[in-house]
Amino acid sequence: MNIYQPGILRFDSLASTNLEAAKRAVAGASEGLCIVASEQTAGRGRLQRQWISPQGAGLYFSILLRPRIDQSAWPLITLMASLAVHDALLEACGLRTDIKWPNDILANNRKLCGILAETTEKTEMSKRAVILGIGINLTSAALPPELHETATSVESATGKEPDLEVVLQALIRALERHYMTLQSARGEEETIRAWSERSSYAQGKRIVVSNGDVILEGTTRGLESDGALRLETSAGEIKIVRAGDVTAVRTRAV
Ligand code: BTN
Repeated sequence: MNIYQPGILRFDSLASTNLEAAKRAVAGASEGLCIVASEQTAGRGRLQRQWISPQGAGLYFSILLRPRIDQSAWPLITLMASLAVHDALLEACGLRTDIKWPNDILANNRKLCGILAETTEKTEMSKRAVILGIGINLTSAALPPELHETATSVESATGKEPDLEVVLQALIRALERHYMTLQSARGEEETIRAWSERSSYAQGKRIVVSNGDVILEGTTRGLESDGALRLETSAGEIKIVRAGDVTAVRTRAV
């Protein structure tokens, strides 16, 4: 795949770049099509949340993928995307970020970028597409006051307003690289290895995971081959976590 081929479609305003990409995927658009909007009026986040997307304050980006890996490995696509964002921000802005499982990008323990992968429905399995949506807070204007405690932007983290175009091009290059790796022989292991190298959440992190009414606390012990998180509880039991919101437990110095 050369994801430069189908090109980048740019919009001033869209409800959601994921929705636009999904519409085009169902109509037969090729793998690699990228959609970028200057603002989103109904930006979508994980777990039915909203992704606040004010004009010019963030990179609101979706890419259409038609993966040739087994569907059981599709959760690795979001891990692959987090690797790409990590590497793109390092290259384009000199910013070293952390990855919170499964795919939140953090700077100074605050969220800087969210990733939402969605599949297109009602098409034959072989033609099903994955829409990978990535929202990066570029400036502080991306953050409403209620998120100031938990979120940040590239501008706040580096002290410099980033150039959207430079970040976008670095992101597309990094996605192409990591997506090719994921689909190569031993690509799934390599993706997990690369993710674990870049994330402080991979090993030995005290966390709480909440998934609806279920709350689990423990210490992270690496990833399963499909990207699920291994969590060791205080009873020494290993739980496999496939979904949920992760929060780091702050340890107090004594
Ligand atoms: C999350 O909740 O962390 C995921 C947020 C994903 C936001 C991006 S912005 C571009 C794309 N279009 C959307 O509507 N959502 C994703």
